[in-house]
Amino acid sequence: MKKIEAIIRPETLEPLKEALIRAKVNGITINQVFGCGNQLGWTEYVRGNTIIMNTLSKIEVTLVVPDDKLEEIIDVITSVSETGEVGDGKIFISEVMDCIRIRTKERGEIAL
Ligand SMILES: Nc1ncnc2c1ncn2[C@@H]1O[C@H](COP(=O)(O)OP(=O)(O)OP(=O)(O)O)[C@@H](O)[C@H]1O
Ligand SMILES: [Mg+2]
Repeated sequence: MKKIEAIIRPETLEPLKEALIRAKVNGITINQVFGCGNQLGWTEYVRGNTIIMNTLSKIEVTLVVPDDKLEEIIDVITSVSETGEVGDGKIFISEVMDCIRIRTKERGEIAL
């Protein structure tokens, strides 16, 4: 099992959710987050003052998928959430040791 943590633009959340549901993922967790990437936010000039807005509102989508579904889901995210501009986001992948469905106590991929 792999955990996919995708940080995306808020405006791509709705189409991404639809695409992930079409791809039959087992579950999705969504968080509102603030962050910055390589550009470290942006700079604004307000009444002669320079304001560095170093975190932007982003959405973090977390899902755990079976190993054989990983590449398909990465393709869905990269195609739906891409605008081509800086700040499109990032995907982090990590190994998941186990999953337990609390109701049935099933474990592993079957519990996803
Ligand atoms: N190395 C990182 N660690 C943790 N979070 C990150 C990292 N890089 C990006 N993020 C998160 O992803 C969001 C989007 O990052 P962003 O797309 O701007 O990455 P980037 O590396 O600057 O790429 P780009 O040059 O396309 O903007 C950030 O606001 C931050 O929340
Ligand atoms: Mg950036």
